Amino acid sequence: LIPADIISKKRDGQALSKNELNYFIKEYLSGSITNSQMSALLMAIYFKGMSDRETFVLLDVMLQSGSILNFENSKEYIADKHSTGGIGDKVSLILAPLMAAGGLKIPMIAGRGLGFTGGTVDKIESIPNINTNPSMEVFKDWIIKNRCAIVVQSNKIAPADKKIYSLRNLTGTVPSLPLICSSILSKKIAEGIQGLVMDIKIGNGAFLKTKKDAISLGRLITNIGTFYDIKTNIVFSSMDQPLGRFAGLACEVTEALECLNGNGPNDTMRITFELGSHLFLQAGIVNDKNAALKKMQALIDSKKALKYFKSMVNLQGGQLDDFKNITKPKYEQLVHSNKSGIINFMDTEKIGWALLDLGCGYKKPDDKLDYTAGIEFYKKVGDEVKYNDPLYRVFNSDLIRLEKVSHLLLDTFNIGNKGKPLELIL
Ligand code: URA
Repeated sequence: LIPADIISKKRDGQALSKNELNYFIKEYLSGSITNSQMSALLMAIYFKGMSDRETFVLLDVMLQSGSILNFENSKEYIADKHSTGGIGDKVSLILAPLMAAGGLKIPMIAGRGLGFTGGTVDKIESIPNINTNPSMEVFKDWIIKNRCAIVVQSNKIAPADKKIYSLRNLTGTVPSLPLICSSILSKKIAEGIQGLVMDIKIGNGAFLKTKKDAISLGRLITNIGTFYDIKTNIVFSSMDQPLGRFAGLACEVTEALECLNGNGPNDTMRITFELGSHLFLQAGIVNDKNAALKKMQALIDSKKALKYFKSMVNLQGGQLDDFKNITKPKYEQLVHSNKSGIINFMDTEKIGWALLDLGCGYKKPDDKLDYTAGIEFYKKVGDEVKYNDPLYRVFNSDLIRLEKVSHLLLDTFNIGNKGKPLELIL
């Protein structure tokens, strides 16, 4: 087998065999296939796509590159949630402890920022001293003790995704259906889960811009999930505007804490409960969606879900004392509306790239993130605004970047005569 020959085959639109994919991924992980060669293959896959069968093989090869967790004879239902990525999407931070509080085990392998979307792992790492990169044994121990933990791909857990994920991030090869599918499922199946709920985002701030593509991905994920004996549900939700009131790093953890304290914004709570109700139903601990919603509300009201968040952070070594103060940004600026009317469009992808510029994501692999950085959204699509009303509060601890981003953000909304609030669940 010759790497350049395999790349050329995909470049010319041919299907790759199991043998070829296996060879390519293995040699890439061992270092004998280079980042340049992998980048070329990823770009060829981006342009030429993959059949369902090839995607399945790619996923399986990626899965076999690492260990698979095994919670022998777990009394509790083991499940997880994953999103295809968005702006302000802190749902994993809320849902993992909420489901754990309800009696499920959630061994969550999450990711860092990818393209213009934020990463759950980057957000939770704004908590001082938190460990997101434990050994398999320690990860498993955390789950046994507290039923939920959030960790990152590592050399042991989903190693192929770890390496390919960061390369895709640097090479414009993120928004590819087979690459998204294999990336997500290689992590999720490695968790040894029995159930999965997927939040497939659609819209101008999502990798999938059309419902048609989202449905294809949903079908593929469901089919592959079923093959691995994983009960799989799909929720389609809008990413035509940011989710919740904040997007960024520490500010999203703070907002997740607000949600767990019962003060979450409607959109964030609605999608969290929609996803959570699927997992409670899969687990058989409720009989219908209404009972699931009631149960989740009770777990929020009693602060039981919050307690699981705190014990998760604690177990992972993180320190939440004085979190808001420690992560206070040095600088902030307001972005104002340029006319009166109704907001009828938000360029969510552009807001996502602006967040990278602000310090919330990686332009280069070893960029140091600014955990204090983020944006607060005062207005959303459908809201009426007057000339000079503040629309966003932008903050970080680097004034030069802040000024550049505040300027960029002037170009991320449209105000017209008409406009109505967006549907969240599609
Ligand atoms: N989330 C992932 O884990 N991988 C992707 O490719 C996209 C979203």
